[in-house]
Parts: sequence; C-alpha cells; structure tokens
Amino acid sequence: MCGIVGYVGPEAASPRLLDGLRRLEYRGYDSAGLAVHDGSGLHVARSVGRLAALEARLADSPLAGSVGVGHTRWATHGAPSEANAHPHLSPDGRIAVVHNGIIENYRELREELAAAGHRFQSETDTETLPHLIQREVADGAASGLDAIAAALRKARGAYALGILLAGEPEVVYAARLGSPLIVGVGEGETYIASDVPAIVNRVRKVIYLEDGQIARLTAAGVEVFDLDGRPAPFEVKDVTVSAESADRAGFETFMLKEIHEQPRILRDLLHQHVDADGRILLPDLHLDEATLKGLDHIFAVACGTAFHAAMYGKILIEHLTSLRVDIELASEFRYRRPKVDGRTLLLAVSQSGETADTLASVRMAHSRGCRVVSICNVHDSSLVRECDGVLYTQAGPEIGVASTKAYTTQLLSFVLLALHLARLRGDLEEPEIRRRLQALRAVPNAIHYVLERKDAIERIADKHHDGPSSLYLGRRFNVPTALEGALKNKEISYQHAEGYAAGEMKHGPIALIHEYLPVVCICTRTEDEVYDKMVSNLREVEARHGRIIALATDGDRAIAEVAEDVIFVPETLEEFSPLVNVVALQLLAYFAAKARGTDIDKPRNLAKSVTVE
Ligand code: M6R
Repeated sequence: MCGIVGYVGPEAASPRLLDGLRRLEYRGYDSAGLAVHDGSGLHVARSVGRLAALEARLADSPLAGSVGVGHTRWATHGAPSEANAHPHLSPDGRIAVVHNGIIENYRELREELAAAGHRFQSETDTETLPHLIQREVADGAASGLDAIAAALRKARGAYALGILLAGEPEVVYAARLGSPLIVGVGEGETYIASDVPAIVNRVRKVIYLEDGQIARLTAAGVEVFDLDGRPAPFEVKDVTVSAESADRAGFETFMLKEIHEQPRILRDLLHQHVDADGRILLPDLHLDEATLKGLDHIFAVACGTAFHAAMYGKILIEHLTSLRVDIELASEFRYRRPKVDGRTLLLAVSQSGETADTLASVRMAHSRGCRVVSICNVHDSSLVRECDGVLYTQAGPEIGVASTKAYTTQLLSFVLLALHLARLRGDLEEPEIRRRLQALRAVPNAIHYVLERKDAIERIADKHHDGPSSLYLGRRFNVPTALEGALKNKEISYQHAEGYAAGEMKHGPIALIHEYLPVVCICTRTEDEVYDKMVSNLREVEARHGRIIALATDGDRAIAEVAEDVIFVPETLEEFSPLVNVVALQLLAYFAAKARGTDIDKPRNLAKSVTVE
C-alpha cells in the first residue's frame, strides 16, 4: 500500500527519491516524506496529501545530501497527518525509518519504551522502530547493523524498511519481513524500492530481499545479512520490466493505456503457451501429467477483481472438465475451516502477488497439505515464492489502481488451464479443443474491435454518468463480467453499482429499477436458451422503464429495439465472451469516471496492492 524508495550515490538524493515516489503514486497514499543525510546529520520533510505538496515544501526548503529514504503513506495506524507521515525519527533524531507493513506488537513495545522515558510524536506503529534501534545503540550494540538486527528481532508483524543512521552518513539500510522490498544495483549508486517500477528507469539489476534479511547499501555495493547479523547469500537478477512499460506512452492515464494493451498482451500470452501444433505448455505450474489426471478438486482463492477471474475459472473448468471447483474470497477462506487437504489443488489468483489475505490463505492451505499454485502477474512476488508453481499472466506492470489487463490475462490463464486439464484428463475430444483454440486466437482482434468503438462507448457513458447508481446484469460465463463491470464503475467513477446474476433480478434488485436507473445488460449471443432468458430479463427492465445499456453481438438488431443504448461487440464463443465484453465495460466505467472528473489512476481510498488485512 505504502511506497518506499531509498538512494545512495553521487547525485542529490531528493530528486531521485521524489522521482521514485512519483512512480509509486499509483499505489495510493495520503501523505509523503523524505529523510536525507547531508553528511553532518539527518533532515526530514513531510507533508499531507499528494506528492505535489511535498515537492512544494522541498522547493521552498531543499534537503541537501546524496543519501536518503522516501515514503508515501496509506494510513493504517493513525490518521493521515504530518505527524503520522514517514520518515519517523528516534528521540535523539539520529535514526530515520520508513516502513510498509504493520508492527503487530507495537502497543507492548510502545508501553515498554514509554515506561523507560521515551516520548512519541505520532500514533503510528512504525515510530516504535527508531526508538527500539536507539535503545539498542544506547545498550551498547556493536554496530548500526547489530542495533537494527536486535531491534527487529523484537518486532512482530510485517515490514519493509528503509533506515538511515546519523552515524553512517554513506549508508542506507533496508530490511524485509512479509512486505516486498527490492534493492537496485546501479553503476556507483544503489537504491531500495517497494516495487520495481519505482526504479526501473535507473537500474537493470535488482536483488529481491528475502524475509528476515537486512541489506546494507553504499554507493559501491550491497551486503546482505540475516536477523542475527550474519552474512546471507543473495542473488542479483536482471530487471525484466522495461522502463517504457512503466510510462503512459502518450495516453491520458495509465488505465487507458493498460486497457489498450490488452489485445497485444493476450496475443503474446497465447503464443507463449500454445505452440504451432496446438499443444498447451504450462511448465512453470510444476504439475505433472499424473498429478493433473489424479486431481478431483480445485479450490481457488483471491480478492477483488482477481476473485471475479476465479469465478469465471470455476464456471469454465466445471464446464469443460469433470473437476469440481470451489472458490472463496481469500479474506473469508483464511478464517474458515474449508474442506481442503492433500488431494486439493489450491489456486491463488493475484495481480500483485502481495495481497495479505491471499498470502495467508496460501499458508493455511499449505499447512493442510494442499499443493498450491498461483496465477500471478508479478515475477518473484511473495506469492510466487510461496507457491509450488505459477502461471504468470505476463501483463507487464499494471499501474492504474483499477485492474484491467491483469483481469483479462487472468481469464486467459484460466482458459489455458481448463483446456490443458480437459485434454489431459480426456474430458474433451481433440476436435473440440482445437475448435476452442481457434476461437481463442480471434479474441485479441475482437478486443481491438471494441477499442476502436471507444468513441461510441464514451458517448453512452457521457449520457448516463450523472446518476447515483447503476445495475449490471449477466448470465453464466458473464455473471463475473457483470460483477467486474460494476466494480470498475464504483472504483473509479464513485457511482454506486451492483453486479448481479440476471436470474436473481426478480428476487430483489428489480425493486431498484426506475426510469432513471442505468441497467447494463450483458446480452451477447449464446448457443442455447441462456440468451433468450437474458432477453426476457431485458424486457422486464424495459417494462419498469429502466434505462437499458445492452452489450450485444454485432448485428443483433432485436436487442437494439429494446435497449436505449447498445454497445456492439464481435461474435465470440460464449465461453470466451467475458474477455471481450469486460473490455467494453472497462471503457464504460472509464468514460463515466472521466465525465465525473475523478482521479482515474488513483481513485480515492484505494491502494494498488492491499498488503495489510
Ligand atoms: O493484487 P491482487 O490481484 O491480489 O489484488 C486484489 C484486489 O485488491 C484487486 O483486484 C482490487 O480489487 C482492484 N482494485 C480491482 O480493480
């Protein structure tokens, strides 16, 4: 949720830190701050609100020095305020700490320190850390590293930390436990960051710190230690993300850019996993043929948009194979007694691979003996490291807080998995699989076609954007599409939106329908009576004077007679239609948000990755 950047090198630290923090703005935050060592001591600047406020403050009173740490905060403990903003200082002002995560035992630690005379300036859990480190120094720790290690051994919870010590003017310390943190290794300069995009324009080599590691960075290089201060092994890896992919590439927002990237990314993902002979290759799942054949139960867990992808995965896998699939929100799964064991394959779906509830579910499933694999976008994320295998969605960095390309790549990943399972287990005949692969190859073009109609979608969004509420309806494969369309709308336009299975309408939501309510009906053609049922639902909305915005298959004039507005999309096999339909709904939400003047890439109260409960 929060963002961390740190720098040691020959250049002025503040501009580097601000540049990195700007690249993390998409994570969502409510205050920001920097600490810089100017050779004689530590200096701090903090402010509430967007980064621009901190920049203005630094323009008035610059912080000199070429060693520093910066932070953007998304409040958990203590309201957004200057006092609660990071960095936090020790009472003697000689230790500065920036922190992502939660120190769970901070109350006990604070009481203990307060009893020893420590006075605190903030309400945060983080502030206990510089106090603890100062105490270790006072108690005679042999070095700065020893003081930090001793303090961290007393902290419970999760952290990614950037630490400056006044006594070590050319060093940045970093530490990780349960919250992601990377070290960037450049030519004569080093960085820390909570996420690769923060420093992707600066370095091409990174170290992914492991839980329980402390790094000591100087301009010359990096040393890594464990929490007992002993040297720890580490691996320097190449950055796989390009600097350009973290830029807007001329689009007015990251979200719009990411919506437009979908045809290319999906095509690439398909090429990567389906060879010229139609074989489906998923080697990183680390699931051999015998395991896949022997499976009888899959349990998928996820949060938010990723959960909608899991819903689709359940419908599709059960449609194409003999497998039973259960799904559950990770935040619920982890606190229940779900029926999973050594015969269950747990599938964790996540864009970031850092979502706290999803990670906790994985740990719980592992402890029950499940085999656990993930569908994940971020390489080397905590989730990937904790799972037995992975299917990377390869969407590239997703910067817009509202998930778009991550969702469609998750859907495609489920398609690949379902077809792979159906083939191995003999659930589908080969011609049936080939027919589907053929249909799948047409999906990126169909999405491209929807993108080309974005002006028409914008006109519809402009017309309907100002109401207080809207309803989204779909059936079968497109129930998750309805939920996801509604989620996109509420996330970025702040318009209340409900997603429903259309068959449920008569059981409640129909009471909402009136002459001003936009009702988005996903009514693309199906091969059976589901389409007719959906048309009946449309008629029911019409009869109550709801304002129907229909998603219909090209050439379906009958729908145009009932609906007030129609978004036409190309004909696609129903099983794969969610990949195409959701893009139209992403655009609809996007243009509604634009018309309502919201901050689309950084919607209020939301963070890109929810690394705390
Ligand atoms: O990184 P994850 O996929 O695990 O994140 C899960 C949700 O927090 C995420 O999908 C969230 O709902 C997005 N804001 C949706 O646009």
